[in-house]
Amino acid sequence: MTKSGNTIPAGRCGAIFADLSSDEILAGVCGFLWKKVCLFESVDSTNERALALASSEVPPHGTVIIADAQSSGRGRLGRKWFSPPGRNIYMSALLKPEIGLRDATLLTIVGALAGVVALRNKTGLDLRIKWPNDLMVNNKKIGGILTEIRSDPEKINLAVIGIGVNVNSEVVDFPEELSGIVTSARTEAGRMFSRVGIIIEILRELERWYKTLTNEGRRPLLEEWKSRSSTIGKKVRIVLGNEILSGVAETIDDNGMLILRTGSGGKRRISSGDVMELR
Ligand code: BTN
Repeated sequence: MTKSGNTIPAGRCGAIFADLSSDEILAGVCGFLWKKVCLFESVDSTNERALALASSEVPPHGTVIIADAQSSGRGRLGRKWFSPPGRNIYMSALLKPEIGLRDATLLTIVGALAGVVALRNKTGLDLRIKWPNDLMVNNKKIGGILTEIRSDPEKINLAVIGIGVNVNSEVVDFPEELSGIVTSARTEAGRMFSRVGIIIEILRELERWYKTLTNEGRRPLLEEWKSRSSTIGKKVRIVLGNEILSGVAETIDDNGMLILRTGSGGKRRISSGDVMELR
């Protein structure tokens, strides 16, 4: 049980698995937002573990769930997230944000900015964000964000920002269908990185951008996202279920939706989908 009475399912605070230590992570963060880091050797999905806390009497705002490996790591659009042990980062940050349901996309923007800035700081790699949530290096995916919420009709009760980063996996380790699409920090930089160091930096940046959202509103967040985007201004093809759209990605609107100018000169507001950036 935590001090506030929530039960954390399995996993332990004060745990060490491989090179990961929850105490070292919490000590390194030095902020005010993150109060508890729970480390698991292996879970189905850190997002799933985090969402299980939604039914706690006191939703654990400021808790972070990290695993060395995931057996059912999940990505956007029902995809699987490759999650072998000992190599990469799988983490989920729990928040109880005072924002409306319609603004939930802004939390993905918070996650993407935190990921891109933290990874740039720690690896020196030139990362960009592909709409809506892909962290990219040299046109290949190095990480992704999956935000999931529990809500009632008016408000968000709990938000989980899930972040996956390919740190020390080598491209040959990935399933064949991901070949040419994904990369890792190790592949791009030619050396290995400390997972703890990157996790600490991600948590610091998550706190920074979350506070920006709550103190200053969406504007600075959206401007920063645009300046770090690889998508805006590009010709794109978007797969939306059975529909394929082509056009120029003009901007994102106040809710983080992509505004696409189509060939016929019309505009479409896109809330989700698979974006392919054309040269
Ligand atoms: C995507 O790009 O499709 C989003 C990938 C998000 C993966 C992370 S890994 C940690 C957290 N737990 C999950 O099951 N998924 C997210």
